[in-house]
Amino acid sequence: MRLRQLILRKFRNYENLELSFYSDLILFVSPNAHGKTNILESIFMSCTGRSHRTSKDREMIKWGEEEASIRTMVDKQLGASEIAISLHARDKKKVLINQNPVNRLGELMGHLNSVMFSPDDLKLIREGPAERRRFIDIELSQIRPRYFYYLQQYNRILSHRNNLLKSIQTKPSLAGTLPVWDNQLAEAGSYIIRQRKLFHDSLQTIAQEIHNQMTHGSEKLTLEYKSSIPFQTGSMDEIREQFLKVLEERRKEDIERGITGRGCHRDDLLFQINGADVKVFGSQGQKRTTVLSLKLSGLEYMFKETGEYPLLLLDDALSELDQDRQQMLMEYIGKVQTFITLTDVNQIPEQKRKNAQIFKIQSGTAQPMASISF
Ligand SMILES: Nc1ncnc2c1ncn2[C@@H]1O[C@H](COP(=O)(O)OP(=O)(O)O)[C@@H](O)[C@H]1O
Ligand SMILES: [Mg+2]
Repeated sequence: MRLRQLILRKFRNYENLELSFYSDLILFVSPNAHGKTNILESIFMSCTGRSHRTSKDREMIKWGEEEASIRTMVDKQLGASEIAISLHARDKKKVLINQNPVNRLGELMGHLNSVMFSPDDLKLIREGPAERRRFIDIELSQIRPRYFYYLQQYNRILSHRNNLLKSIQTKPSLAGTLPVWDNQLAEAGSYIIRQRKLFHDSLQTIAQEIHNQMTHGSEKLTLEYKSSIPFQTGSMDEIREQFLKVLEERRKEDIERGITGRGCHRDDLLFQINGADVKVFGSQGQKRTTVLSLKLSGLEYMFKETGEYPLLLLDDALSELDQDRQQMLMEYIGKVQTFITLTDVNQIPEQKRKNAQIFKIQSGTAQPMASISF
């Protein structure tokens, strides 16, 4: 898929920005704090309906304004489409696809897909399991809207169940209604776990291959999907049964603590290099390489599942990587439409730059530059 046009109105520090893309390599160049990441953020919003760096839509509206909008024109194998998102200071965001209002955010999923890579992604290794679940959820939601629905549903049921657990503490007779919620949680949860397991299996193979290439065969990367619901075959039925069993076994403890202690909201993805946990034993370089392997395998996975590569969004990603890793990323340019933010255009080899569109970003404006002028 290709992004052909991006129009921002009152989005972050852009009053009015209209960009057309005809190349597969687009560079946004400026010193810091001029608005490069803001552009990638708007593209990411068009893919997922959410920002990659804030959960508050309001923050993306230009200061002092009430509304902002992002409009994109997308070319896919099946034809062109237009995605329009408007943000409102006092109202929910609105999404239109080909001018038709979308009632549920899930309907946006799959129209435009992307994989974002930024220095912040080291969080994926360093921080807790929530970051890693987020990675899985963003990947799967983009290619499988159904996954997104189940996830929303799961979170809703979970929050009801947790409220009920707390109420049971003071009113034990309410415990009779718990099985209803358990069933619903296990129903949505078993779908999610099964999809995560399948995703893990594919990703493992692809990431291993990419990591192997990047380290010239010296490192073997292994991914482990760690679910708090134990299962053997991984069929939906088996997972559902196991899910219910775990909920039953832990019922007393859950009531005491007023919280659901097991389920998809506790899943994790672990990384090992040559058998050692990357989070604990990995060097800074190994952590970066692991994240890159993961992101690039996410990209290949999307291709495998949808037949089209997503957009690759690289936010200040090059400066952090050594020559070999940079080389690996460069190989994707040409195969995948890639948007790169950087402070120095020379970070991109001249050979690649020849066909690039280069925009000089300056305090909320984007000036197209011929590659020669740098
Ligand atoms: N809602 C907003 N309204 C206006 N300006 C904003 C808003 N949010 C961020 N900015 C401005 O955007 C700039 C940062 O943009 P960013 O894309 O992160 O820069 P960089 O070029 O370093 O990637 C800062 O100057 C900041 O003040
Ligand atoms: Mg930035």
